[in-house]
Amino acid sequence: MNSRWPMMLIVGAFASPVVFAQAPSKPDAAKAQQIATQVCAACHAADGNSTQPANPILAGQHADYLFKQLNNFKPQSGKPAERPNAVMAGIAANLSVSDMRGLAAYFEDQKPRLGAARDPELVKLGQAIYRGGVLSKGVAACAACHGPGGAGVPAQYPRLAGQFAEYTAAQLKAFRSGERANDPNRMMQVVAGKLSDKEIAAVAEYIAGLR
Ligand code: HEC
Ligand code: HEC
Repeated sequence: MNSRWPMMLIVGAFASPVVFAQAPSKPDAAKAQQIATQVCAACHAADGNSTQPANPILAGQHADYLFKQLNNFKPQSGKPAERPNAVMAGIAANLSVSDMRGLAAYFEDQKPRLGAARDPELVKLGQAIYRGGVLSKGVAACAACHGPGGAGVPAQYPRLAGQFAEYTAAQLKAFRSGERANDPNRMMQVVAGKLSDKEIAAVAEYIAGLR
């Protein structure tokens, strides 16, 4: 305990201008972990491997995507949130930019638990859509953007592999109705807009088992 005092004095004497210059953008890993355990854990689990299908798994998701979503849950300068959600709006409202960066990095670093699909019939249709799209309706293959294994592409396309089918289906329906409109160039609204309920259920089931 006592040995920390000399260190703090040294830091206090020499480091303050540097700390000041970095403060706005540098995430604080210790603070992020604390928020994750005290706030996010209730719904997403401390390691981001949520056990409730309504609460998405965050573990292993790309940090840039997580950071963007946290921003999108906040109403921006008088305009409604691009991704309206009553629960996450309240949570995001209390996070600073550096908290959001720290939390995004923290959850990206967590190891995702392997998911599993349950319905083999749905999985067959889902796999066809995921890998080849729906030719007759001009629906692009999910794999073209999210990758054949659902790993996504950092900064561009989110990871999907192993996510709860219930959550994935709910997001596809939200894109389809336009309730969720935070996708750049309406990429997901165009894709999901042409999918039937059955096709959404099938591709969501396939994604749950992707690894
Ligand atoms: C009371 C439950 C609850 C708490 C606490 C909570 N979340 Fe969420 N979170 C949700 C729900 C529900 C969703 C899905 C929202 C939707 O359907 O659009 C979500 C979605 C998200 C998403 C979007 C994920 C994706 O794949 O697009 C991120 C990022 C996120 N939460 C981060 C956090 C962080 C960080 C914390 C802690 C600071 C937190 N959440 C605390 C319930 C919660
Ligand atoms: C042209 C590229 C593209 C194609 C094709 C595409 N997606 Fe996406 N998808 C995106 C982008 C970009 C986002 C991130 C949107 C954002 O920033 O919120 C996204 C987000 C998602 C999300 C939300 C993830 C989350 O955690 O909330 C789901 C689910 C999804 N896509 C499923 C699919 C499925 C299923 C297909 C195939 C039927 C598909 N996507 C095809 C680009 C694409």
